[in-house]
Amino acid sequence: MAQYFNEPSRTFNEYLLVPGFSSKDCTPDNVSLKTPVVKYKKGEAAPIIMNIPLVSAIMQSVSDDKMAVALAKEGGISFIFGSQSIESQAAMVKRVKSHKAGFVKSDSNLRPDQTLADILELKKRSGHSTVAITDDGTAEGKILGIVTSRDYRVSRMSNDTKISEFMTPFSSLVYAQEGCTLSEANDMLWDHKLNALPIIDKNQRLTHFVFRKDYDSHKANPNELLDQHKRYVVGAGVNTRDYEQRIPALVEAGADVLCIDSSEGFSEWQKDTIDFIRSKYGDSVKIGAGNVVDKEGFLYLAEAGADFIKIGIGGGSICITREQKGIGRGQASAVIEVAEARDEYFEETGIYIPICSDGGIVYDYHMTLALAMGADFIMLGRYFSRFDESPTNKLNINGTYVKEYWGEGSNRARNWQRYDLGGDGTLKFEEGVDSYVPYAGSLKDNVQLSLNKVKSTMCNCGTLTIPELQKNAKITLVSATSIVEGGAHDVILKDTSNNTLR
Ligand code: IMP
Repeated sequence: MAQYFNEPSRTFNEYLLVPGFSSKDCTPDNVSLKTPVVKYKKGEAAPIIMNIPLVSAIMQSVSDDKMAVALAKEGGISFIFGSQSIESQAAMVKRVKSHKAGFVKSDSNLRPDQTLADILELKKRSGHSTVAITDDGTAEGKILGIVTSRDYRVSRMSNDTKISEFMTPFSSLVYAQEGCTLSEANDMLWDHKLNALPIIDKNQRLTHFVFRKDYDSHKANPNELLDQHKRYVVGAGVNTRDYEQRIPALVEAGADVLCIDSSEGFSEWQKDTIDFIRSKYGDSVKIGAGNVVDKEGFLYLAEAGADFIKIGIGGGSICITREQKGIGRGQASAVIEVAEARDEYFEETGIYIPICSDGGIVYDYHMTLALAMGADFIMLGRYFSRFDESPTNKLNINGTYVKEYWGEGSNRARNWQRYDLGGDGTLKFEEGVDSYVPYAGSLKDNVQLSLNKVKSTMCNCGTLTIPELQKNAKITLVSATSIVEGGAHDVILKDTSNNTLR
């Protein structure tokens, strides 16, 4: 006989948090949203920890390199979409990794035997006024000097004057050695009243510049998520088909963490993909797996060696999997059951495997509920697709600004391998739609607002960290009538734009 679940499966909308005692130190500025991304042993620190519990979805319409930099600046991780060629996905990862926070690869470089005309021409093209003069004219060459606009007067000098005659030579430069921290570099900029500080290796080769103008931007992003070389952290999606080629290319490009992107992850294909990683890289390459919606699925992927496990089938805003195939589970029920399995597994093995709630976040409070129910972090598609940084077009439709957002299983993305579990590739029917979402402005403003709400609710629950929230939250089911009670009701809403009735 088939197995039946006793309870109907439930969504986040069917729950609320009941406040706990808040002491006086329970203030939003004391809340930490740090959270582990990959598994770790009891008593040890997770090898990757995010500063905020948000990751952006593995989707064409959400996660490219621009989104990845914007989200890493706020402390989260983007998983660059895998439904593109291996080369273009690896190039996106590389672009994020070359964006070393505060340490910039020099994009204006010339040789000392070139001329003032070359300087002027380069400045016109790049718009930058600091030019590194290296022996071979590259960004990694041996640095011999620097030219800024203070070094020449166009009206007094002939265009064919050699750069070596007017550059500030290396012997007069203030520079720092590779390995210095961003704050040390910034101190040098201030102490020596410089606009640009070259960073060089032990062979006098230029590695980076640190610019004074970037100083404010780093002050403004105290949460930014960086690797040990001060580069932004980035993830990438992989599939269970071409992983033997795709994974090495992504690892080579510098991806910090991978994730198998599949609508249904309780499958042998996922184990094969993880086995490939373990045989080639051991534990040094981190990979998440999924999606699953129950304890059995979690345990399978845990035993297969996944570094984190993603939860959710059918709850995504653009998803029609439940309608098309009749599989799935309410997102809240799935998270609650998998979180319990994760805790039991930790108790038994001493290994903590973070879980990610993927899809179905509509209101900001759903984020808090997902965390309270046990998720360590949350993957969002619709949420991020509304921002300036998403890769899609912004359109004005009947006076309303919208952005495009389409599912990986839509005819537009044609990412069929996400859905067909490794068959012969002929199974092609849609599991997602093509849609518009209301345009919402910058990622930074929106993420900060959403997380301020999360922090405020955590304080109401008397908790200052995500693990405390997971342990101490009090969660209640709500009835249909109490949902009505929860919105504005029994009043006539004012249209504040023109003071009329709505
Ligand atoms: P959202 O945040 O509710 O928009 O959900 C995003 C999630 O939906 C993604 O992270 C995927 O897990 C899932 N998803 C993406 N594309 C599709 C699709 O075409 N069909 C079904 N699910 C999808």
